[in-house]
Amino acid sequence: MMDLVVPDKTHDESRQGEALVLDAVEAKNNGRKLYIESYGCAMNFSDSEIVASILLDKGFETTSDFNVADVIFINTCSIRENAEQRVRNRLKEFKVAKVKNPGLVVGVLGCMAERLKSKFLEEEKLVDVVVGPDAYRDLPNLIDQVDDGQRAVNVLLSREETYADISPVRLNSNGINAFVSIMRGCDNMCSFCVVPFTRGRERSRDPHSIIKECTDLFDQGYREVTLLGQNVDSYKWSEEGESVEDAPKATVNFANLLEMTALISPELRVRFSTSHPKDITDEVLYTIGKYDNICNYIHLPVQSGNSRVLEMMNRTYDRDWYINRIDAIRRIIPECAISTDVITGFCSETEEEHQDTLSMMDYVQYDFAYMFMYSERPGTLAAKRYADDIPDLIKRERLKEIVARQQEHSYIRLQKLIGTIQKVLIEGFSKKSDQDYCGRSDQNAMVVFPVTENYKPGQYANVLIERSTTATMIGKAV
Ligand code: SAH
Ligand code: SF4
Ligand code: F3S
Repeated sequence: MMDLVVPDKTHDESRQGEALVLDAVEAKNNGRKLYIESYGCAMNFSDSEIVASILLDKGFETTSDFNVADVIFINTCSIRENAEQRVRNRLKEFKVAKVKNPGLVVGVLGCMAERLKSKFLEEEKLVDVVVGPDAYRDLPNLIDQVDDGQRAVNVLLSREETYADISPVRLNSNGINAFVSIMRGCDNMCSFCVVPFTRGRERSRDPHSIIKECTDLFDQGYREVTLLGQNVDSYKWSEEGESVEDAPKATVNFANLLEMTALISPELRVRFSTSHPKDITDEVLYTIGKYDNICNYIHLPVQSGNSRVLEMMNRTYDRDWYINRIDAIRRIIPECAISTDVITGFCSETEEEHQDTLSMMDYVQYDFAYMFMYSERPGTLAAKRYADDIPDLIKRERLKEIVARQQEHSYIRLQKLIGTIQKVLIEGFSKKSDQDYCGRSDQNAMVVFPVTENYKPGQYANVLIERSTTATMIGKAV
């Protein structure tokens, strides 16, 4: 099956096989090398940084070459069947390394580990360790078990674990952008989705630890944080301790957390992902509008433009509700860029219902979209209740139409920006040439412009946009 996506750092589940390497090596080296490769969403990449931190503490160092590794971890994604297929193919390649080095420990982490549990050990003979997303603190212990000649599994999900006290080591970092997890799990039960099963119940992380992490990042020179959760709008933290008489315990909601993060410094950009249409409040929108450093960019997955399909998907909003939220964004933050996720060919979707998705796209004029063919996941509500009855060929055709429509919209949006001046956070050199800088605008569009001596990566530049390709704006610093 084929997926088509427009790449983005925060939300590209198709990201695959990036090896994460730490530049600096920690003290009390145990002489063993860890290779860790991540698939799936930003939360998985963020988790790999927690895993690396836990193992660095035990004296491991990281390597970018799995052939010299003593421990290979693959942090996996189950969101669609092809995501799992990629991982299985990759495991075959690790087999070769294991033949050469029988002492090598191979571990499967993340969502596929949680979904398949000990079945993984039966299916994939070379795997020694299977560890779910809430059990990473147990990794050193599990590696010890493997060293003792056993195979080890820990897939316990937790209602509390947020790894709040672990300060993630930044892997493959440009020193400018960082992901910060603010919550884990998901309590929604979208019928197509495997995440509630692989990541467990939703829980929010202590805001003090979040603000401390973001402040430390800023002090180290980072200039952009992306607050991560499957449904950031339902972030909620209640202070511990006695509540006084009738005074309620202080609670922090997502709008409050955004504000606290924005106040760290006006020089720190704040992004977040993902918002849920049923939960995004006007309070959040006003907070975004109030602070210049909270980026005018909202990822608001629609999935379908048709109310009957949305109901079957158990998204708990309908077309009118979604449109109401879009109108609120346009009213409160007129400059806001909006992106989305679309699933095409969900169970029993008719041609007319597919057209409703296209008309929704016309209504919103999304800046970006991640577009997927429905992939049935074992154990989900949809798999139990509905037949996956749209033929592949039709899914593919509908996807093509959706992608074509999105390309038109992305192009129009970028064209409108020609002649404007955009504030760009410089992230480094452009992939194509070290004569050009690249960075992103407030609205998350990629901008490329010639290097000038006045600016360095990590600084902001005002860039006059002169032209655009389908996904990138090109201009010069002014
Ligand atoms: N928590 C986020 C989404 C996480 S998964 C949210 O609620 O928006 C990212 C995207 O993958 C989803 O928005 C959906 O578009 C897609 N997706 C999830 N399950 C899928 C499936 N079974 N088949 C195809 N796409 C799927
Ligand atoms: Fe999956 Fe829905 Fe939760 Fe998103 S909100 S992770 S789509 S169940
Ligand atoms: Fe994939 Fe798990 Fe993220 S299924 S999309 S890695 S939460």
